Amino acid sequence: MKINIAIDGPSAAGKSTIADLLAKKFHLTHLDTGAMYRCCAFAADQQGISLTDEAALSELVKHLDIRFDDNKQVYIGDKNVSVEIRNNDISMAASKVSAFAGVRKALVAMQQEIAEEKGYILDGRDIGTVVLPDADVKIYMVASVEARAKRRFNEYVQKGISADYDTICQDIVQRDYQDTHRKESPLKQAEDAIAVDTSNLTIDEVVEKISMIITDTCG
Ligand code: DC
Repeated sequence: MKINIAIDGPSAAGKSTIADLLAKKFHLTHLDTGAMYRCCAFAADQQGISLTDEAALSELVKHLDIRFDDNKQVYIGDKNVSVEIRNNDISMAASKVSAFAGVRKALVAMQQEIAEEKGYILDGRDIGTVVLPDADVKIYMVASVEARAKRRFNEYVQKGISADYDTICQDIVQRDYQDTHRKESPLKQAEDAIAVDTSNLTIDEVVEKISMIITDTCG
């Protein structure tokens, strides 16, 4: 289907999982834009660039060779960074680097270029508002802090990563605050986006609900 879909919402709302399943169902390509901000934070850490040095971060991101393969793996150049970019420190660092206009400008341009041909489902914070204001379908996925923290906690336990529920809750609240209060493209629902609250829904139910919205909108 030659359409573009935008999915936005706060951290740990399940956007990436749902976008992946919808991409398979509707034969679209999923672009996880959060992974791109994570790559920027990871590369800054590797190169000893301070998370407050906007000029250096903006320069870094311009030359960052971010790639995705068909198996959901993320690369910087030839290095597979899929696991490293998911750790908690990088989550927090990604939220910080994403506040800078220079970083956003470069990554938004890359995202728009990728999605230009249509056939994409992008998930992030500013897809419906900035990256793809003309997306065919816009979804704003929300869930309570408790529901999101519980999912993240279970995910860590399943992967054998040690996790503390209260710390996860605090991190989610802090990231929500940072993402919604920054000056540059803060997280907010696009006027024409449809809100989907996933707090009490299973993954299958969310996919079903959004699939109906896609079919109703695009035929
Ligand atoms: O979706 P995520 O948790 O992987 O995103 C990591 C951080 O990147 C998040 O805290 C905010 C930022 N981000 C953004 O500002 N804009 C996007 N389109 C995607 C992510």
